[in-house]
Amino acid sequence: MTVVILRRVADLRTMVRGWKAAGQTVGVVPTMGALHEGHLSLARAAKAGCDRVIVTIFVNPKQFNNPADLEKYPRTEDRDAALLATVGVDVIFAPSPDEVYPPGFATTVSVSGVSAPLEGAHRPGHFDGVAAVVAKLFGMTMADRAYFGEKDWQQLQVVQRLVADLNLPVEIVGCETVREADGLAMSSRNARLSEGGRAIAPALHREMQ
Ligand code: PAF
Repeated sequence: MTVVILRRVADLRTMVRGWKAAGQTVGVVPTMGALHEGHLSLARAAKAGCDRVIVTIFVNPKQFNNPADLEKYPRTEDRDAALLATVGVDVIFAPSPDEVYPPGFATTVSVSGVSAPLEGAHRPGHFDGVAAVVAKLFGMTMADRAYFGEKDWQQLQVVQRLVADLNLPVEIVGCETVREADGLAMSSRNARLSEGGRAIAPALHREMQ
């Protein structure tokens, strides 16, 4: 079984309207691709909680404050689609940057307070980019529920604040972090750790425990 991949908002909306007309609930799992077991666990939670499941794959340029980081971010769409087929999601939405941010796009979404410390302090503009794309993905998918990993704890708080402040009609579901056997939280970025970095990375979880 392969999963349908849609790239246009209009096509996605047509599909979702059909589901809603049939009284079905829709879940979305927003991702930037390079999927691992953590993402798949979100997709499974969405399958368990909703009639239909959309996984979005979009490497969002607006949340990268460093162009080299954006360039190097892993992109593995074929492999991702094969993994999502094993979970049985209904649609992958993988738009181009121009589809998400057409010429003339001029809106900023900024969640103050919770975005400021921790990662926000080290990556200026990062959470504004996350808030903008997440708000757009909710509008595009018209999902009833959206699934986010607790691994990105601050991001989860930002998204919850965004949804509450803007009265967005979507329920946010936080899901437990999935870890490697040695305790390292699964992340697409782990692929970029050096051998030495990978060896010491689990110490963070161990010490926090
Ligand atoms: O957590 C991520 O992968 C991204 O920040 C998200 C939520 C898909 C927005 O681009």
